[in-house]
Amino acid sequence: MGITTSSQSPKLLFRQLFETESSTYTYLLADVSHPEKPALLVDPVDKTVDRDLSLVKDLGLKLIYAINTHVHADHVTGTGLIKTKSPGVKSIISKASNAKADLFVEAGDKIRFGDLFLEVRATPGHTVGCVTYVTGDGPNQAHPRMAFTGDALLIRGCGRTDFQGGSSEQLYKSVHSQIFTLPKDTLLYPAHDYKGFTVTTVEEEMLYNPRLAKDEETFKNIMKNLNLQYPKMIDVAVPANMNQAIEIRWEADIAGICTIVQIASANRTPICLPLQVVLVACPKPILFWPQVVSKQESDRPGLVAVRTARARAGSMFPLNNL
Ligand SMILES: [Fe+2]
Repeated sequence: MGITTSSQSPKLLFRQLFETESSTYTYLLADVSHPEKPALLVDPVDKTVDRDLSLVKDLGLKLIYAINTHVHADHVTGTGLIKTKSPGVKSIISKASNAKADLFVEAGDKIRFGDLFLEVRATPGHTVGCVTYVTGDGPNQAHPRMAFTGDALLIRGCGRTDFQGGSSEQLYKSVHSQIFTLPKDTLLYPAHDYKGFTVTTVEEEMLYNPRLAKDEETFKNIMKNLNLQYPKMIDVAVPANMNQAIEIRWEADIAGICTIVQIASANRTPICLPLQVVLVACPKPILFWPQVVSKQESDRPGLVAVRTARARAGSMFPLNNL
């Protein structure tokens, strides 16, 4: 077996970052040969947004995308907070996830940053909308290729298939048709690791993954008998992540006066930066400057209320693009 430990590209800057509470990996990729040094983050976590953004700043990068592999159930995504702190960054998630984002991707799409790109592969099974992002194939792209598998494939494991539209049959097919068909030296970077592993390869997982290296029937039986606990963050994380982890509550009267009654982040970080809220019927975005009025928590744990902002709008529905 050929052993590979890192990828080489004269253009690619790559950093693997870790969030300890949910054991989540966030990945920073940038084209440092491009004058603007465009960068993207894969699976940012709300709690480590400040760390990630200060790294982006230190390295002189221009963050253009915050991308999720799927709607996470174990932590709150950082995309909403990143967008409030770094206006101009676009969030991306798969169309199949049905979650909110600025841009939606499907199998075969390419996410370009400078001369580099990530190719989208649909890998449902852990959730209906799971995708794997694979670095491009070509002379200036990373070699060996790198795949960000989310929870579809973990190092010597895989994500559970008993929630969020999961299906063990679908997951098996996804991994075998979309990940195990990549070159054997492709480096696989998962969304989590609980044992201290950081990276694996297609070849390694085809040989040693105790679930996915088995035949399909054995795999389905393993997944059926995992007897896992109910995910402790799922009731907070999934609704938040469907909405980029920013909750907007609003009311509108018949004249179309839209009152935002609450804008809150799903962790304890108050949002007190300018927020860009686009009302569909408005030709231009409206900037709100909400400020924290009290530390009092709202009716959902971890939410911080902010002062009411008012804006006149031609239409009551819907608020989007936050
Ligand atoms: Fe997940």
